[in-house]
Amino acid sequence: MTSDLKKVELHLHLEGAAPPSFIRGLASEKNVDLLDIFDENGSYKYEDFWDFLKVYEAATSVLQTPEDFGRLTQAVLEESAKSNVVYSEVFLSPDFCGERDVGAWKEYLAAIQEAANQAERSDGIVLRGIITCIRHFGPDLAKETAICAAETAGDWIVGFGIGGDEKVGAPKDFSWSFDCAREAGLRLTAHAGEWGGPESVQAVVDDLGVERVGHGVRAIEDPALVEKLAERGIVLETCPGSNVVLNVYSTWENHPVDRLREAGCIVTVSTDDPPFFHTTMNREYQMLADTFGWDDDAFRALARTSMDAAFCDASTKENLQKVLEAE
Ligand code: ADE
Ligand code: ZN
Repeated sequence: MTSDLKKVELHLHLEGAAPPSFIRGLASEKNVDLLDIFDENGSYKYEDFWDFLKVYEAATSVLQTPEDFGRLTQAVLEESAKSNVVYSEVFLSPDFCGERDVGAWKEYLAAIQEAANQAERSDGIVLRGIITCIRHFGPDLAKETAICAAETAGDWIVGFGIGGDEKVGAPKDFSWSFDCAREAGLRLTAHAGEWGGPESVQAVVDDLGVERVGHGVRAIEDPALVEKLAERGIVLETCPGSNVVLNVYSTWENHPVDRLREAGCIVTVSTDDPPFFHTTMNREYQMLADTFGWDDDAFRALARTSMDAAFCDASTKENLQKVLEAE
């Protein structure tokens, strides 16, 4: 049973993982009217990727205090633990946590970490954070986010990245922020090759110097790039269920995750924003097994590869590799 396998997730947006019922609960506590973002079944409702980003941002509007983010972290990790996730890297956005003010951001981070420590004690799941700026908010706000990242870089905040609308601006506009994060010791990832083509993947590798790419799947359209990614060991944080629901690919059968793996790329699998895409890590695994015939050995190799590609320190990694081996 794929659900019994221990899993490692490297690409999960904390706000994007908020169960709709959790957001509705906060909205009613705070008397905020959010009805427009839910369908008749209570799920998030959106038309396409750009509408998804708007609904996502509307949902975050009820997350207003460090305590809200602590509760969110607890709710998200409870869900991840149900899929047997033993290690997760979560994207955190100071944009939604104190509007990039360093002092406020530290308070939000403390609440998130406290909830993570509690989940580690109760469910054994280990969490680390990647601070992410948002591409369509522009390079100036990204600089403030990078400063928040640099100020809190360490054993727990382990990376820096960028999400949002890949069609807006160019990666090199964000060089200052990525340089700042790198100098603070953070490891780097960037969303690319989801809505942009292979040139977008090439640009984050060349211009931002990232070692992982969020999604990256449209690299498949350029065989020379696929070869280069494989040779250089650039890690792809693929999220197939997200891509299928957002219609980057029309079906699981059309998704290139299996072809990228066959071509020698380092492929990891995550959920991105699970409730938005009606998915879980268990479901991603089940779909990979059903669609491409991945078996338990393939999944065990996937978990080890993902742990290798994690941004946490060596001793955390070693401990978790042991947890995976004990399966
Ligand atoms: N932020 C949350 N989910 C995202 C996605 N799939 N692409 C870009 N930015 C995002
Ligand atoms: Zn993402």
